[in-house]
Amino acid sequence: MLLTSSWIIDFVIIIATISFIAYKYATRKFDYWRKRNVYHLKPIPFIGNFKDVGLFKITIGEWLKKLYDSTDEPYFGIFVYDEPHLVIKDPKLVKQILVKDANYFMDRTNAAPEHNQIIANMMFFQKSPKWKAYRTKVSPAFTSGKLKLMFHSINEISKDLNRYLGKNLGDLEMKEVCAKFSTDAIARCAFGLNSHCFEDENSAFRKCGRRIFDFNWRNGIIQTAYFFRPHWVTWLRLDFFEREVSDYLVDAFSSVMTHREKTNIKGNDFLDLLIDLKKNQDFREKFAFETTEATAQAFQFFVAGFETTSSTISYTLYELCKRPKYQNTLREEIKAAMAKDGDITYENLMGMKYLDMCVQETLRMYPVLPFLDRRCNTEYKIPNSDLVIEKGLPVYIPMFGLHFDEKYFPEPFEYKPERFENGQSAYNKDGLVFLPFGEGPRICIGERFGLLATKLALVRILSEFEVVRNMQTPDVVEFDPKTFILQSKVGLPMKVKKLMPTPA
Ligand code: HEM
Repeated sequence: MLLTSSWIIDFVIIIATISFIAYKYATRKFDYWRKRNVYHLKPIPFIGNFKDVGLFKITIGEWLKKLYDSTDEPYFGIFVYDEPHLVIKDPKLVKQILVKDANYFMDRTNAAPEHNQIIANMMFFQKSPKWKAYRTKVSPAFTSGKLKLMFHSINEISKDLNRYLGKNLGDLEMKEVCAKFSTDAIARCAFGLNSHCFEDENSAFRKCGRRIFDFNWRNGIIQTAYFFRPHWVTWLRLDFFEREVSDYLVDAFSSVMTHREKTNIKGNDFLDLLIDLKKNQDFREKFAFETTEATAQAFQFFVAGFETTSSTISYTLYELCKRPKYQNTLREEIKAAMAKDGDITYENLMGMKYLDMCVQETLRMYPVLPFLDRRCNTEYKIPNSDLVIEKGLPVYIPMFGLHFDEKYFPEPFEYKPERFENGQSAYNKDGLVFLPFGEGPRICIGERFGLLATKLALVRILSEFEVVRNMQTPDVVEFDPKTFILQSKVGLPMKVKKLMPTPA
């Protein structure tokens, strides 16, 4: 009897000691912001301020907005699990970090795992100095001349889109329809491939796309590790994409590349540029640019491009189906341009002002990637402050918070294209408050392609069809917390009706 109770006491002491050591370890950095006299939110042991995101109750964008709204400080400290992070609220400081002093903040905070060279070499994940060399070489793929060439391919796909809508009038999940369009557009423009999304509901490309951004626990946990616990990615050798998906896409891209290299066929597309880079002896030797690295860029173009573009198109349609007045104003602009030129052209598309205002307002309310992050690479003193940002410290820009701050955007929850009457640059004069594509050297490389494809799809759809609410259209979009991008929990259902021809 005596022996048993002595065991229980030993057991309790061991558990209490382990718990105490674990507690001490998990909270060892919790005085980081207090010591530096920086306003911060009180952390909880083991999870810091990250509880609701870590438990998938809220998206990272909405969480940062909530923190942003909780203080008037120009910057403040938080803890993601046990790690201190700095959140920047002041627009001038945002500009300083992203643009003027970008040299101190070149990389993102995410993992770039050694064990998976495709992921490590995707531009979004890449670290400097390799990133800079790749970015300089890949940027010419997005010049105006190249975009004009791509316009013709995307225009053909926009006609496929309207044929599809014509055959499937009525209630539709428009996010899915727009994803078919953007997948076809990217497959064609980047690789000269036809991904057949409109003809085949089970197109392999579309299936891969669905699985990459599917809300499931595997994706939620892995994405959290990549963005917030990069060392877990290395320890556990985690892959961002499911093996089956990345194997399929890598095979598809590398076999087209091999075929094009052998046959010397030019496609006037992104692949031409990658093949030329592979032939560039100097670049190839300096940065080990072989098939894996080239395929990573192709893979990147696909992953970063189709979801962001299809979301922007479908969120715009969603807002316009709720607001027929705006939809009609935009349709009048489209009709006038088409009546003048006979069809949509690159030039008239770029000249449609109201279209641009609607798209910018969509990007304000639904910036698909709703936060920006940078890791400080050299000690940096914040101007007019005593705070020195230490090397290695992660810094967040709460884009969603800025886009919904009524100081900059009165009635922020109202969709009002007229805010952009004077263009988007009007908002970013003194500092940065509108940044759906990010800013500075790491700004989205595909911005112009994304806008071109978004606008072309919208103009094509609204020239022939009307979008109206149906019973399933949500009043307000609720975002799925299991993914780091802004995705509606229920998709974007609406009704598509054929427009009556206007009497001559
Ligand atoms: C409406 C569509 C799009 C939106 C809203 C969007 C948004 C963004 C944002 C917010 C970033 C982070 C920028 C930063 O950290 O400062 C980014 C980066 C990036 N985006 Fe996009 N994007 C879009 C379309 C595309 C397309 C079509 C491509 C295809 C090439 C693309 C490729 C990339 C790449 C490669 C990066 C990383 C750039 C780097 O680190 O140098 N994006 N995008």
